[in-house]
Amino acid sequence: MPDAIAYISRDTDGVLWKKALEAALGPLDFRTLDALGDKADIEVALAWKPPRGLIASLPNVKMIVSLGMGVDHLLADDRLPDGVPITRIMDDGLVGQMSEYAIYWALRHHRDIDKYAASQRAKQWKPEDFVDTIHRRIGILGLGTIGQDTANKFAALGFPTAGWSRTQKSLPGLETFHGPDGFRRLLAESDILVNVLPLTRETRGILNAEAFAALPKGAYLINMARGGHVVDEALLAALDSGHLSGATLDVFNIEPLPPEHRYWTHPRVQVTPHIAGATNPRTASPGVIENIRRLKAGQPLIHTVDPKSGY
Ligand code: GLV
Repeated sequence: MPDAIAYISRDTDGVLWKKALEAALGPLDFRTLDALGDKADIEVALAWKPPRGLIASLPNVKMIVSLGMGVDHLLADDRLPDGVPITRIMDDGLVGQMSEYAIYWALRHHRDIDKYAASQRAKQWKPEDFVDTIHRRIGILGLGTIGQDTANKFAALGFPTAGWSRTQKSLPGLETFHGPDGFRRLLAESDILVNVLPLTRETRGILNAEAFAALPKGAYLINMARGGHVVDEALLAALDSGHLSGATLDVFNIEPLPPEHRYWTHPRVQVTPHIAGATNPRTASPGVIENIRRLKAGQPLIHTVDPKSGY
C-alpha cells in the first residue's frame, strides 16, 4: 500500500510539516523533493509551486494538498493528474497575518505615518489634515475566508467597509457587491482598496487602467493576493499621475521582484517580499491531518478545490 507523503516545495525544508503531521498521526514515511525515492510509494503530495509534471509522475497519488491558501501555483501545472482530488490548507494563522498586514498598512496611510516620519527627519512639528474614520471607506476584493476576516476587522475599527465577490454574498455588517457592475460600484467607493482575490482566468489583470480610473482620486491600494491581478504599467501610471496616492504591494507578476523594477524605488510604493501571510504548519496542519484520516477511511475530503473555478 503506498502511504508515503511527499513534501514538494523549495520554500522550506518541510521539517515543521513533518513534525506537525507526526505529532498527530505517528511516524510517517515523509519524503522531500530531493529524496522522493520510489515514486510509486507516494500517496499524498503536499505542494507549493510544484515543478511542472512532477505530481503526474506519482502513479499512486490519491490526494494533492496545496500548501498555500491560493492554489494558482498548483493549477499552473497543466499536467496535474485527472481525477485526483485537490485540497488546500485552511490556516487561521495565515488568515490572521493577512488581516493584520492589511490593517497595518491601511492605518499607516490613514494616520499619515509616513508624512510624520518625514516631518521628524526635518524636525518639523506639522499636524496633517485629519480624516475621520467614518469617512475613510475600505473596499475588499474577495470575500472568502481571508476577505471576510479582513473586512470584519476593518468594520470593528469603525471604517465603512464593503466587499466584492464573484458570486453574491450577504454578510452581516458589510455592504456587499458582486459581478462586473458591482465591481465598478465597489471601486467608486473605496478610499483604500484591499485585494485578496484568488488568481483565476477571470481575475488575472482585473486591476487595470479602467479599474484604477474608477477609484476615487487619492485612493490607496493594498495588494496581498497575487501580482497577476495587477497590470503593472497601469498601476504605475495611476501612481505617477497622483490619481492613486500610494500602494503597498506584497505580491508581484515576477517574484522575486527584479532589481530594475520601478516599484522598488517609486516614492508612492511600499514593497514587501510576499510575506503578508506565511503558511504556518502549526495552524495549517489540523485540516491536512483531518484529510489524511478521511482519505484512509474513504470519507469525503474537506477544503477541496474546484480546478474549473480556480479556487
Ligand atoms: C500564499 O501566498 C498562499 O497562497 O497561501
